[in-house]
Amino acid sequence: MVGLPARGKTFVARKIHRCLRWLGHDARLFNAGDYRREMLGAQHSHEFFSPDNAEGKRARLAVAQAALDDMFAFLHGPGEVAIYDATNTTRARRALIVERCARERVTPLFVEIICNDEAVIEATIRETKVRSADYAQMDPEAAVADFRARIAHYASAYEALGPADGSYIKYIDVGAQLALQRTDSELAHVLVRLLMSLRGARKRLWLTRHGESVYNGLGLIGGDPELSPKGLGFAKRLARFMAEHREAGGELVVWTSTLQRTVQTAGQLQMSTVAWRELDEIDAGVCDGMSYPQIEHELPDEFVARKRDKYRYRYPRGESYQDVIQRLLPVVLAFEQEPRPLLVVGHQAVLRAFYAYLTAQPPQKCPHLSIPLHTVIELTPTLYDMEERRHLLD
Ligand code: F6P
Repeated sequence: MVGLPARGKTFVARKIHRCLRWLGHDARLFNAGDYRREMLGAQHSHEFFSPDNAEGKRARLAVAQAALDDMFAFLHGPGEVAIYDATNTTRARRALIVERCARERVTPLFVEIICNDEAVIEATIRETKVRSADYAQMDPEAAVADFRARIAHYASAYEALGPADGSYIKYIDVGAQLALQRTDSELAHVLVRLLMSLRGARKRLWLTRHGESVYNGLGLIGGDPELSPKGLGFAKRLARFMAEHREAGGELVVWTSTLQRTVQTAGQLQMSTVAWRELDEIDAGVCDGMSYPQIEHELPDEFVARKRDKYRYRYPRGESYQDVIQRLLPVVLAFEQEPRPLLVVGHQAVLRAFYAYLTAQPPQKCPHLSIPLHTVIELTPTLYDMEERRHLLD
């Protein structure tokens, strides 16, 4: 990461980390501020960050080296992507990274966060910095003043990314603009798509499976069945619930799959909806329309193989959870771009995959997450995470 303090580097770094991990990459975040607090303690006043403070400069370089050492140890071990969340605003500091990457055969990609909107910067300072351990027990206004002085030190020595900086993505004004240089790798393409979609709007989100289907009643998987009478009852309760819980007069975006049971469930809302093929339930291939005991009896090897590794197991002529995650990326990107509150009416497996992204769960856990029928999962975004409430409408 590259950028002045309070430009949203950590927000973007965490999103990159979440998305790559969800897609199955072994990615880890290394935050320079955490290393500094760990090695030197918190509560440094702004003078510590001045480019004229030789002692401070030495100490900050030692912190950067420690983070880099850990990053390369990770990359030479299990790691695939290390995200270095630090300012890296001088050419000298970036040269250190580039040289080390060349020596250790690691490909660097810079992501520079530029923000020219004073209101966004002010909000970030008040929401994240003033509350950090750096300013524990300090009067908030004094903390803001000190942090602004810290920013000014970095700004005085700031050197933006340029033609000599190799591969980079500049994320400008919360995604209003992107500038790219040599972003040819497949991983860089994923990041470009993510950053193009990332607009930082915090909106409430409700996830629910369709109401009980005729197949659910019979214990069969897959197919395109209609709602059972019980399922229709849930759809009506869902419509009432949403009328009570959504912001009065505010907009609500409703997404369904293309399968009847989600479309019928959302139909009770009497609102316009968008049907996504990507939200269709996991394709059970040759097992579609069967019950679990029937699969165990007729296709015992498949049954055992799925039990052994439910995340990677792919139904013959169907999908695995890993496949579902990959095909869900456009939905995740559309979610990141969407500023309005959202209701998603989906299916068990596909919602497990989406929920794993939203709540930053390791993807391998996703086949075992609990997404029961007739339960609305309400997710309210906090600064970096989601607050969750479950409503049983049975
Ligand atoms: O049983 C309902 C259902 O949506 C099936 O259509 C689907 O195959 C299944 O859930 C996914 O859950 P699991 O991965 O636990 O079998």
